[in-house]
Amino acid sequence: MSHADDHEGTRRDFLYYATAGAGVVTAGAAVWPLVNQMNPSADVQALSSIRVDISGVAEGTQLTVKWLGKPVFIRHRTADEIESANSVDVSSLPDSNARNANLAADADATDANRALDGEEKWLVMMGVCTHLGCVPLGDGAGDFGGWFCPCHGSHYDAAGRIRRGPAPENLPVPVAAFDGETTIVLG
Ligand code: FES
Repeated sequence: MSHADDHEGTRRDFLYYATAGAGVVTAGAAVWPLVNQMNPSADVQALSSIRVDISGVAEGTQLTVKWLGKPVFIRHRTADEIESANSVDVSSLPDSNARNANLAADADATDANRALDGEEKWLVMMGVCTHLGCVPLGDGAGDFGGWFCPCHGSHYDAAGRIRRGPAPENLPVPVAAFDGETTIVLG
């Protein structure tokens, strides 16, 4: 089986799963695999920096936006999620690197180092599984209260750190910052 065939199979599996699990899948998560099959136009590709209004993102919910042709998760975390993410011993993580483009390359994967601008309520990450690139399901999915990638079973915690499964790295945190209280600038 060629690599391309393999990829098709993965995508079909994901769509099937998303349909079967409609009760827990957000519209955004189900729609992404379809959108990703279209080539982003040149003008979208060129838009290297975008501003996102987060004033409508209630605590305990997630907004998914498209940036540079990829989904970005912006989650407004609850106190429970923050507490659970902080209760983890960083040295026990499969990937102890923050994977945060805003920090030094060797920063630890503490919860504070994953959160946006040190604002623990906000977590911004690329919505792309570090295994083979599927879009993980959110809203507390998986065994660690964060995200779950159904393609091959990778579980991410409430800080987007890989905890179990084949994905080798934490979900990457892109260049992002607050501009005022209700706008996040990506890029
Ligand atoms: S792509 Fe394989 S587990 Fe996510």
